[in-house]
Amino acid sequence: MADDRVTIPALLEMKRSGKKIAMITAYDYPTARIAESAGADVVLVGDSAGNVVMGYESTIPVTMAEMLHHTKAVKRGVKRALLVADMPFMSFQVSAEETIRNAGVFIKEGGAAAVKIEGAGRARCAAVRALCEAGISVMGHIGLTPQSIHQLGELKVQGSAADDAVRLVEAAEALASAGVFCIVVEVVPREVAAVVTSRVGVPVIGIGAGPDCDGQVLVFHDLCGLNGPGAAKPKHVKEYVNGYDVLETAVRSYVDEVRSKAFPTDANSFHLKADDRRAFLEQRGPK
Ligand code: KIV
Repeated sequence: MADDRVTIPALLEMKRSGKKIAMITAYDYPTARIAESAGADVVLVGDSAGNVVMGYESTIPVTMAEMLHHTKAVKRGVKRALLVADMPFMSFQVSAEETIRNAGVFIKEGGAAAVKIEGAGRARCAAVRALCEAGISVMGHIGLTPQSIHQLGELKVQGSAADDAVRLVEAAEALASAGVFCIVVEVVPREVAAVVTSRVGVPVIGIGAGPDCDGQVLVFHDLCGLNGPGAAKPKHVKEYVNGYDVLETAVRSYVDEVRSKAFPTDANSFHLKADDRRAFLEQRGPK
Protein backbone atom coordinates (compact mmCIF):
# COMPACT_ATOMS: atom_id res chain seq x y z
CA MET A 1 0.00 0.00 0.00
CA ALA A 2 1.29 3.50 -0.82
CA ASP A 3 2.61 5.35 2.27
CA ASP A 4 0.98 8.60 1.24
CA ARG A 5 -2.50 7.06 0.98
CA VAL A 6 -5.39 9.36 1.77
CA THR A 7 -7.13 8.53 5.04
CA ILE A 8 -10.28 9.85 6.67
CA PRO A 9 -8.24 11.82 9.27
CA ALA A 10 -6.20 13.25 6.37
CA LEU A 11 -9.43 14.54 4.76
CA LEU A 12 -10.45 16.17 8.05
CA GLU A 13 -7.03 17.81 8.21
CA MET A 14 -7.47 19.08 4.65
CA LYS A 15 -10.70 20.79 5.70
CA ARG A 16 -8.98 22.33 8.73
CA SER A 17 -6.05 23.61 6.70
CA GLY A 18 -8.19 24.81 3.78
CA LYS A 19 -6.62 22.42 1.23
CA LYS A 20 -9.29 21.53 -1.34
CA ILE A 21 -10.27 17.89 -1.76
CA ALA A 22 -10.48 16.52 -5.32
CA MET A 23 -12.89 13.60 -5.69
CA ILE A 24 -13.93 11.82 -8.88
CA THR A 25 -16.00 8.77 -9.72
CA ALA A 26 -14.52 5.66 -11.34
CA TYR A 27 -16.17 2.42 -12.40
CA ASP A 28 -13.46 0.09 -13.64
CA TYR A 29 -9.71 -0.55 -13.64
CA PRO A 30 -8.72 1.94 -16.37
CA THR A 31 -10.82 4.84 -15.02
CA ALA A 32 -9.49 4.11 -11.51
CA ARG A 33 -5.90 4.17 -12.77
CA ILE A 34 -6.49 7.49 -14.53
CA ALA A 35 -8.09 9.01 -11.39
CA GLU A 36 -5.23 7.69 -9.28
CA SER A 37 -2.39 8.86 -11.50
CA ALA A 38 -4.06 12.26 -11.91
CA GLY A 39 -3.83 12.65 -8.14
CA ALA A 40 -7.48 12.45 -7.01
CA ASP A 41 -7.80 12.32 -3.22
CA VAL A 42 -11.05 10.35 -3.14
CA VAL A 43 -12.36 7.90 -5.73
CA LEU A 44 -16.08 7.15 -5.54
CA VAL A 45 -17.56 4.12 -7.22
CA GLY A 46 -20.78 6.01 -7.80
CA ASP A 47 -24.10 4.39 -8.57
CA SER A 48 -24.03 6.85 -11.47
CA ALA A 49 -22.51 3.73 -13.04
CA GLY A 50 -26.15 2.93 -13.74
CA ASN A 51 -26.39 5.93 -16.07
CA VAL A 52 -22.95 6.37 -17.55
CA VAL A 53 -21.73 2.78 -17.77
CA MET A 54 -24.84 0.60 -17.88
CA GLY A 55 -27.14 2.97 -19.78
CA TYR A 56 -30.06 2.84 -17.35
CA GLU A 57 -32.34 5.88 -17.29
CA SER A 58 -31.80 6.34 -13.56
CA THR A 59 -29.77 4.89 -10.71
CA ILE A 60 -32.80 3.04 -9.29
CA PRO A 61 -32.14 -0.35 -10.98
CA VAL A 62 -28.51 -0.57 -9.89
CA THR A 63 -27.90 -3.68 -7.77
CA MET A 64 -25.46 -4.68 -5.04
CA ALA A 65 -23.91 -7.23 -7.41
CA GLU A 66 -23.29 -4.58 -10.05
CA MET A 67 -21.79 -2.15 -7.54
CA LEU A 68 -19.59 -4.85 -6.05
CA HIS A 69 -18.33 -5.82 -9.51
CA HIS A 70 -17.39 -2.19 -10.22
CA THR A 71 -15.88 -1.65 -6.77
CA LYS A 72 -13.58 -4.67 -7.08
CA ALA A 73 -12.33 -3.48 -10.47
CA VAL A 74 -11.73 0.07 -9.21
CA LYS A 75 -9.94 -1.20 -6.10
CA ARG A 76 -7.29 -2.84 -8.29
CA GLY A 77 -6.48 0.55 -9.86
CA VAL A 78 -6.45 2.68 -6.72
CA LYS A 79 -3.39 2.87 -4.48
CA ARG A 80 -3.29 6.30 -2.82
CA ALA A 81 -6.82 7.68 -3.04
CA LEU A 82 -9.51 6.89 -0.48
CA LEU A 83 -11.94 4.44 -2.07
CA VAL A 84 -15.65 4.94 -1.34
CA ALA A 85 -18.43 2.66 -2.60
CA ASP A 86 -21.91 4.02 -3.23
CA MET A 87 -24.71 1.95 -1.70
CA PRO A 88 -27.40 1.35 -4.33
CA PHE A 89 -31.11 2.03 -3.90
CA MET A 90 -32.79 -0.32 -1.38
CA SER A 91 -29.50 -1.65 -0.02
CA PHE A 92 -29.62 0.57 3.08
CA GLN A 93 -33.31 1.32 3.67
CA VAL A 94 -34.81 -1.94 4.93
CA SER A 95 -33.17 -2.52 8.30
CA ALA A 96 -30.00 -1.74 10.21
CA GLU A 97 -28.94 -5.41 9.91
CA GLU A 98 -29.32 -5.44 6.12
CA THR A 99 -27.60 -2.07 5.82
CA ILE A 100 -24.59 -3.26 7.83
CA ARG A 101 -24.44 -6.57 5.93
CA ASN A 102 -24.53 -4.83 2.55
CA ALA A 103 -22.02 -2.13 3.54
CA GLY A 104 -19.76 -4.84 4.94
CA VAL A 105 -19.67 -6.52 1.53
CA PHE A 106 -18.19 -3.36 -0.02
CA ILE A 107 -15.56 -3.15 2.70
CA LYS A 108 -14.64 -6.86 2.99
CA GLU A 109 -15.06 -8.04 -0.61
CA GLY A 110 -14.85 -4.80 -2.57
CA GLY A 111 -11.89 -3.33 -0.69
CA ALA A 112 -13.55 0.06 -0.13
CA ALA A 113 -12.54 2.18 2.86
CA ALA A 114 -16.02 3.63 3.30
CA VAL A 115 -19.54 3.66 1.87
CA LYS A 116 -21.81 6.52 0.77
CA ILE A 117 -25.53 6.65 1.35
CA GLU A 118 -27.99 9.15 -0.09
CA GLY A 119 -30.53 11.13 1.86
CA ALA A 120 -31.20 12.73 5.20
CA GLY A 121 -33.74 12.47 7.99
CA ARG A 122 -34.20 10.33 11.07
CA ALA A 123 -34.06 6.93 9.31
CA ARG A 124 -30.88 7.86 7.44
CA CYS A 125 -29.18 9.14 10.61
CA ALA A 126 -30.10 5.85 12.32
CA ALA A 127 -28.48 3.96 9.42
CA VAL A 128 -25.35 6.12 9.73
CA ARG A 129 -25.17 5.47 13.48
CA ALA A 130 -25.62 1.71 12.97
CA LEU A 131 -22.85 1.62 10.36
CA CYS A 132 -20.47 3.68 12.48
CA GLU A 133 -21.13 1.41 15.46
CA ALA A 134 -20.29 -1.55 13.23
CA GLY A 135 -16.98 0.15 12.38
CA ILE A 136 -17.93 1.21 8.85
CA SER A 137 -17.19 4.80 7.81
CA VAL A 138 -20.00 6.61 6.02
CA MET A 139 -20.13 9.49 3.58
CA GLY A 140 -23.47 11.34 3.50
CA HIS A 141 -25.12 12.76 0.39
CA ILE A 142 -27.77 15.51 0.47
CA GLY A 143 -29.33 18.06 -1.87
CA LEU A 144 -30.13 16.43 -5.20
CA THR A 145 -30.23 12.71 -4.45
CA PRO A 146 -30.84 10.88 -7.75
CA GLN A 147 -32.16 7.74 -6.03
CA SER A 148 -35.17 9.88 -4.97
CA ILE A 149 -36.02 10.77 -8.57
CA HIS A 150 -39.61 9.57 -8.24
CA GLN A 151 -40.19 11.69 -5.12
CA LEU A 152 -38.39 14.72 -6.57
CA GLY A 153 -40.12 14.46 -9.96
CA GLU A 154 -37.09 15.81 -11.81
CA LEU A 155 -33.37 16.35 -11.29
CA LYS A 156 -33.37 20.04 -10.34
CA VAL A 157 -31.68 22.44 -7.93
CA GLN A 158 -32.55 21.64 -4.30
CA GLY A 159 -32.82 24.05 -1.37
CA SER A 160 -33.65 27.08 -3.46
CA ALA A 161 -36.53 28.26 -1.24
CA ALA A 162 -35.41 29.71 2.11
CA ASP A 163 -37.20 27.02 4.19
CA ASP A 164 -35.71 24.22 2.07
CA ALA A 165 -32.27 25.80 2.40
CA VAL A 166 -32.62 25.82 6.21
CA ARG A 167 -33.72 22.17 6.11
CA LEU A 168 -30.62 21.29 4.09
CA VAL A 169 -28.33 22.91 6.67
CA GLU A 170 -30.16 21.04 9.45
CA ALA A 171 -29.87 17.77 7.50
CA ALA A 172 -26.12 18.24 7.16
CA GLU A 173 -25.78 18.99 10.87
CA ALA A 174 -27.84 15.92 11.79
CA LEU A 175 -25.76 13.64 9.52
CA ALA A 176 -22.54 15.07 10.98
CA SER A 177 -23.85 14.43 14.52
CA ALA A 178 -24.81 10.89 13.49
CA GLY A 179 -21.17 10.27 12.52
CA VAL A 180 -20.59 10.75 8.77
CA PHE A 181 -16.95 11.60 8.00
CA CYS A 182 -17.84 13.67 4.94
CA ILE A 183 -20.93 14.97 3.13
CA VAL A 184 -21.58 15.30 -0.61
CA VAL A 185 -23.86 18.25 -1.37
CA GLU A 186 -25.33 18.00 -4.87
CA VAL A 187 -26.88 20.78 -6.96
CA VAL A 188 -27.82 23.37 -4.37
CA PRO A 189 -27.38 27.16 -4.45
CA ARG A 190 -23.82 28.27 -3.75
CA GLU A 191 -24.88 30.31 -0.72
CA VAL A 192 -26.53 27.29 0.90
CA ALA A 193 -23.52 25.03 0.30
CA ALA A 194 -21.25 27.71 1.77
CA VAL A 195 -23.30 27.79 4.98
CA VAL A 196 -23.37 23.99 5.19
CA THR A 197 -19.58 23.96 4.74
CA SER A 198 -19.03 26.47 7.51
CA ARG A 199 -21.52 24.83 9.91
CA VAL A 200 -20.30 21.22 9.93
CA GLY A 201 -16.95 19.96 11.17
CA VAL A 202 -16.59 17.31 8.46
CA PRO A 203 -15.49 17.97 4.87
CA VAL A 204 -18.25 19.01 2.46
CA ILE A 205 -17.75 17.91 -1.14
CA GLY A 206 -19.80 19.84 -3.67
CA ILE A 207 -21.15 18.89 -7.07
CA GLY A 208 -23.07 21.78 -8.56
CA ALA A 209 -22.78 23.48 -5.18
CA GLY A 210 -20.30 26.27 -5.97
CA PRO A 211 -16.67 26.84 -5.09
CA ASP A 212 -16.98 27.38 -1.33
CA CYS A 213 -17.18 23.69 -0.37
CA ASP A 214 -14.16 21.88 1.08
CA GLY A 215 -13.82 19.90 -2.14
CA GLN A 216 -15.45 18.98 -5.44
CA VAL A 217 -16.62 15.80 -7.11
CA LEU A 218 -17.46 15.19 -10.76
CA VAL A 219 -18.56 12.09 -12.62
CA PHE A 220 -15.66 10.70 -14.70
CA HIS A 221 -17.71 10.39 -17.88
CA ASP A 222 -19.04 13.96 -17.52
CA LEU A 223 -15.66 15.65 -17.09
CA CYS A 224 -14.09 13.49 -19.81
CA GLY A 225 -16.98 14.14 -22.22
CA LEU A 226 -17.71 10.45 -22.73
CA ASN A 227 -21.51 10.59 -22.73
CA GLY A 228 -21.85 11.26 -26.43
CA PRO A 229 -24.35 13.06 -28.63
CA GLY A 230 -27.75 13.75 -27.11
CA ALA A 231 -26.58 13.41 -23.50
CA ALA A 232 -27.65 16.13 -21.06
CA LYS A 233 -24.91 18.61 -20.12
CA PRO A 234 -25.91 20.09 -16.76
CA LYS A 235 -24.67 23.61 -15.94
CA HIS A 236 -22.45 22.39 -13.11
CA VAL A 237 -20.45 20.02 -15.29
CA LYS A 238 -17.19 21.17 -16.81
CA GLU A 239 -16.18 19.00 -19.74
CA TYR A 240 -12.36 19.03 -19.84
CA VAL A 241 -12.13 16.99 -23.06
CA ASN A 242 -14.58 15.71 -25.63
CA GLY A 243 -13.52 12.14 -24.98
CA TYR A 244 -16.37 10.68 -27.02
CA ASP A 245 -15.21 12.48 -30.19
CA VAL A 246 -11.56 11.66 -29.53
CA LEU A 247 -12.32 7.96 -29.08
CA GLU A 248 -14.84 7.81 -31.91
CA THR A 249 -12.27 9.35 -34.27
CA ALA A 250 -9.75 6.71 -33.22
CA VAL A 251 -12.19 3.82 -33.70
CA ARG A 252 -13.38 5.26 -37.04
CA SER A 253 -9.75 5.41 -38.24
CA TYR A 254 -9.31 1.77 -37.24
CA VAL A 255 -12.48 0.70 -39.06
CA ASP A 256 -11.45 2.66 -42.18
CA GLU A 257 -7.93 1.20 -42.11
CA VAL A 258 -9.21 -2.37 -41.78
CA ARG A 259 -11.45 -1.80 -44.78
CA SER A 260 -8.73 -0.10 -46.83
CA LYS A 261 -6.17 -2.73 -45.72
CA ALA A 262 -3.92 -0.01 -44.23
CA PHE A 263 -4.03 -1.91 -40.93
CA PRO A 264 -2.36 -4.14 -39.94
CA THR A 265 1.00 -3.66 -41.63
CA ASP A 266 4.05 -5.84 -41.40
CA ALA A 267 5.09 -3.72 -38.38
CA ASN A 268 2.05 -5.06 -36.51
CA SER A 269 2.83 -8.65 -37.47
CA PHE A 270 4.87 -11.44 -35.92
CA HIS A 271 7.36 -13.55 -37.85
CA LEU A 272 8.78 -17.04 -37.65
CA LYS A 273 12.53 -17.22 -37.14
CA ALA A 274 14.40 -18.12 -40.35
CA ASP A 275 14.94 -21.82 -39.50
CA ASP A 276 11.34 -22.35 -38.43
CA ARG A 277 10.12 -20.48 -41.46
CA ARG A 278 12.06 -22.73 -43.78
CA ALA A 279 10.92 -25.89 -42.00
CA PHE A 280 7.35 -24.66 -41.85
CA LEU A 281 7.24 -23.82 -45.53
CA GLU A 282 8.70 -27.21 -46.36
CA GLN A 283 5.97 -28.99 -44.39
CA ARG A 284 2.97 -26.72 -44.83
CA GLY A 285 4.03 -24.10 -47.33
CA PRO A 286 1.97 -22.86 -50.26
CA LYS A 287 1.71 -25.38 -53.12
O1 KIV B 1 -23.23 8.28 -8.05
C1 KIV B 1 -22.47 9.27 -8.14
O2 KIV B 1 -21.67 9.41 -9.06
C2 KIV B 1 -22.55 10.26 -7.09
C3 KIV B 1 -21.74 11.51 -7.24
C4 KIV B 1 -22.32 12.40 -8.25
C5 KIV B 1 -21.54 12.21 -5.95
O3 KIV B 1 -23.26 10.08 -6.15
